[in-house]
Amino acid sequence: MSGSWDPALYLKFTDHRLRPALDLMARVLLPDAATIYDLGCGPGNVTKLIAERWPRARVTGVDASPEMLAKARAIPGITWQQADLAQWRAETPADLVYSNAAFHWLDDHARLFPHLLAQVRPGGFLAVQMPRQQIKPTHLILYEVAREPAWAQVALPGLRENPVAEPADYYEWLGRDAAALDIWEVEYLQALEGDNAVLNWVLGSIARPVVDRLPAGQQSEFLKLYGERLAAAYPRRPDGRTLLPFRRLFIVAQRRG
Ligand SMILES: C[S@@+](CC[C@H](N)C(=O)[O-])C[C@H]1O[C@@H](n2cnc3c(N)ncnc32)[C@H](O)[C@@H]1O
Repeated sequence: MSGSWDPALYLKFTDHRLRPALDLMARVLLPDAATIYDLGCGPGNVTKLIAERWPRARVTGVDASPEMLAKARAIPGITWQQADLAQWRAETPADLVYSNAAFHWLDDHARLFPHLLAQVRPGGFLAVQMPRQQIKPTHLILYEVAREPAWAQVALPGLRENPVAEPADYYEWLGRDAAALDIWEVEYLQALEGDNAVLNWVLGSIARPVVDRLPAGQQSEFLKLYGERLAAAYPRRPDGRTLLPFRRLFIVAQRRG
């Protein structure tokens, strides 16, 4: 996933996107750290908070997107690395490998998650948060609209099978090498502001690769149809806000000593 990220749109909903990042960080019971990696760091706003929480650590933000990294590089005191997380390995065994809202873009979690825990030193932590929203209207309607004959051939390849598995699967994949495992799910009731709020939310994430595949002429038609169906599923309240329940999976594993 690179090349099509829009940092400005992504940052529009900073508060709702920040909350799970902080909830994840709060469960990493690491008093001090020397080496931390933030995988899929995006524009670096969470990486900055990680560096503030562990001020003595050498923090590296890793992302594949040049647009996101261009934004992140404005933040001083952090090392930024462009890499594909599917192939990434730590230069130095880490005290913490942290990732907020990135690994749902990568496949093969049965292989990837044990590999990530192996990048952590004994006693260190792997902490990952991913949306698990695949059976919710945001995603079901996107699939429905992408299947419209006018653009199905072009749009459908932009959609991929969601790789985020059941919580118990991560317990299985990480359990062998973990001294402690903390896995939980939360559904945040997000009250979004503004016009087309849910459409704008998904355009900062899951819908972006689909829309980008369409020729300019079809994009507005696609967005109109998707926007109308989203608005019916998530009606705007009289106070102007739109409620979007959003489910997320959290995994914190401490590596066995
Ligand atoms: C939703 S953003 C999360 C950004 C940041 N972690 C945060 O919490 O604000 C997902 C990020 O993952 C990155 N990403 C997705 N797939 C990737 C891959 N295979 N390798 C590296 N980065 C990837 C994207 O470029 C994007 O910046």
